[in-house]
Amino acid sequence: MIKAVRGTRDILPPDTALWNHVETVVRDVFRAYNFQEIRTPIFESTELFARGVGEETDIVSKEMFTWEDRGRAESDKGNSLTLRPEATAGIVRAYIEHKLGDRGLNKLFCIGPMFRRERPQKGRYRQFYQIDAEVIGPASSGSDSPARDAEVLEMLATLLDRLGITGWTLELNSVGNSAERVKFNEALRVALEPLKDKLCGDCQRRAVANPLRVLDCKVPEDQPIIDTLPHISEFLEEDSQKHFAAVQEILKSVGIEFTINSRLVRGLDYYTRTAFEFTHGALGAQNAILGGGRYDGLSEALGGPAAPGIGFAIGEDRLIMTLAEKTPAESVLRKPDVYIAPMAAMNVAAARLARELRRHDLVVELGDENFRLKKSFEAATKAGATYILIVGENEVKADTFALKNLATGEQIQVPFSELAAKIQQGRIQPG
Ligand code: HAM
Repeated sequence: MIKAVRGTRDILPPDTALWNHVETVVRDVFRAYNFQEIRTPIFESTELFARGVGEETDIVSKEMFTWEDRGRAESDKGNSLTLRPEATAGIVRAYIEHKLGDRGLNKLFCIGPMFRRERPQKGRYRQFYQIDAEVIGPASSGSDSPARDAEVLEMLATLLDRLGITGWTLELNSVGNSAERVKFNEALRVALEPLKDKLCGDCQRRAVANPLRVLDCKVPEDQPIIDTLPHISEFLEEDSQKHFAAVQEILKSVGIEFTINSRLVRGLDYYTRTAFEFTHGALGAQNAILGGGRYDGLSEALGGPAAPGIGFAIGEDRLIMTLAEKTPAESVLRKPDVYIAPMAAMNVAAARLARELRRHDLVVELGDENFRLKKSFEAATKAGATYILIVGENEVKADTFALKNLATGEQIQVPFSELAAKIQQGRIQPG
């Protein structure tokens, strides 16, 4: 038997109903903040991620699915391509390529699969899904304002509330602007110089190439040494401090709780100033439901105009895991309103009835004239239908049908013209 590849999985009904429910709520909430949808390709030039996310990050150095193009055209051959490990770099590329700033398209979101070659475990997959949103634009659009950071965080809190997810924690930090980051990196390099031989192999390399990434290290033995390293907060100058204070002030005034985590630097190189994660206790080791932050120099790093930005990506798989505990998929699944059971030679009449009822936004499951009545009842019950509608020769002649409520057993005769309304009245609403 051929099975799904390790780290990938099939999302089956009824779970897909929960995924759709989440995406509907997400789209509703995003609309209220005037975000518009963008769909970028699932693979891009490897260089985009190397330059955007950073060569020394775990994502780029270890986790990407990369291959050489064997394209037909000479110009394609040998190009290095990569399945997107995240959405921000692609969205910023599209922003630059289509001059979206000139068109005032400053708030974009994208929902789709991402790919990272990670060791699969609970809540960690090699194909996973992100709900990603970005605010990006020329500084004149206000995209560099702390008000945007606070608005994005407030939107996230609203979204989690709307989904009924409680018990999350917002961890917040400022990772400084690029100049402050350079100084911090330098201080880390100096501090690591006498210590690096005691660290893991990866950290020994990072201590030289990009010391900030040492802070992402998960090796338990390295943690006591990492704890002694300087904190980014010591390197923030007045503007960055003011920005960070302004974000916090708005969050407090709108009643969003947060904790400051001065060790939070995030695993991607593009971040500047505000960085954040929402964590949830129910998730276990992989406890980040979502992460994000500001990336004021990313557009320039990718060859575009100055375009400060801030965004986040929700791990949809993890969001669903937290939600599924309280909201079983069954509760948002729309079951058939009616099962149509045609008697012998009644498939034609039943098809016409089904077509008419579906036009009234009813969910209709259609049986077959070869089924005995007992089999139709079993099929209707298995499908979870509210009603069964019997279509026999006499019913068609009289234009009146037997409609039976499968839960109560009540059976009534309903004229064709009243059928849709009658079924709609008895419809079981999901949720
Ligand atoms: P990230 O922290 O790498 O950020 O990923 C965001 C979220 O995606 C994580 O918090 C987690 O919920 C989920 N996630 C990541 N890897 C996996 C995995 N292997 N399996 C399941 N879920 C996973 C970014 O990707 C940034 N692009 C976020 C961003 C947008 N920053 C600014 N704009």
